[in-house]
Amino acid sequence: MSNRVNPDAEQIIMSNAIDGLEGVVAAETVLSEVDGAAGRLIIRGFPVEALAGRHSYEEVLRLLWDGFFEDLPHDLGPALGQARVDVFREVAALDEGLRSLSPTEAARALTARIADGDGLDVALRLVAAPAVFVPAVVRAKAGAAPVAPDPRSSHAADVLRMIRGEAAPAALAGALDAYLVTVSDHGLNASTFAARVVASTHAGLASAVLAGISALKGPLHGGAPGPVIEMLDAIGEADNAAAWLEAALDRGDRLMGFGHRIYRVRDPRADALKGVIRTLAREGAALPGRLALAEAVENAALEVLRARKPGRSLDVNVELYTALLLEALEFPPDAFTGVFAMGRAGGWIAHAREQVIGGRLIRPQSIYVGPRPLEAA
Ligand code: ACO
Repeated sequence: MSNRVNPDAEQIIMSNAIDGLEGVVAAETVLSEVDGAAGRLIIRGFPVEALAGRHSYEEVLRLLWDGFFEDLPHDLGPALGQARVDVFREVAALDEGLRSLSPTEAARALTARIADGDGLDVALRLVAAPAVFVPAVVRAKAGAAPVAPDPRSSHAADVLRMIRGEAAPAALAGALDAYLVTVSDHGLNASTFAARVVASTHAGLASAVLAGISALKGPLHGGAPGPVIEMLDAIGEADNAAAWLEAALDRGDRLMGFGHRIYRVRDPRADALKGVIRTLAREGAALPGRLALAEAVENAALEVLRARKPGRSLDVNVELYTALLLEALEFPPDAFTGVFAMGRAGGWIAHAREQVIGGRLIRPQSIYVGPRPLEAA
């Protein structure tokens, strides 16, 4: 066996392969625009700030799905409530093996039990799936029985009721609703791209959503907020922030909740969520000094990153304040990515439908840099 490397490979890579597909336009979409220079997110014509806290997740789901399903009802609430009831039967499959996984992994496994298809019924079940499965898994891991959905409740309020075993105060349900809207769609991020690739093969919506969940859970994407809590716990007090952050960078670690492929300024979702947290704090939610600590960590991190990476504009992303908000809503950190999936599922499904209706099989090219077969002697 020869290990002869293609001598032209390095040259070809430099001229052709685009590392991380940075700057590559791989789809046209009517769904959302991420303006990285202005720090602006538009979802179907609306700035994210005009949707979060002003429109329910059900309404934003209707907005995202408009034109992608036939017979889309004006109010998706009742059908989504019924979908939560429908998928709850899968919770019976939550055995000891699944309980040993993280809530996101166990919810993904239960989601894989949903039959593939392209219709509205399948789409609603896939949005219902993380909303029902994450609370059931969190409770099962704590030794508590699952709580069945209430189809008449709002989606966000039902999630909190299913996890707590009793209705949550309206302020908390409103905060979760605003979070789900804030993260509902965000251009061609890694998980949405993964979902579109799978959808482009006509595999079905369940397959596309499973691809989305799998890409989302990585710490460079939607897996960051759990480690943000670890960072805040390790820093402990504002005065320790700069030294702790410097030491983390000395070890070669990434600072979780900072940096973004597209944003060169503040991620607008960070401020949208900070506003939600401030409202919660005013309404008496338990935020034991966390907001002040997070703001101190943010300021210290921006200073440290500016000094260390002067050529790269690194700012806060959505995950720092996601972590704070989901902690205030009493989700355990290992469930944070599953809660992110509850919101993003609506966007993945809209993108999958857009891809199937107007797109082509996604099949890019690679450059072979391995050994060439030896010429026959
Ligand atoms: N901490 C320290 N350094 C960073 C960070 C960070 N958070 N982010 C980027 N950098 C540095 C990199 O080390 C690199 O430096 P170098 O050029 O000296 O090697 C430079 O900035 C560019 O980094 P890339 O990895 O090329 O940037 P990319 O656009 O690929 O990365 C990413 C984006 C993955 C989000 C990155 O900023 C990161 O790892 N952040 C931390 C994890 C995180 O918060 N993820 C959530 C993102 S939001 C979301 O997906 C919902």
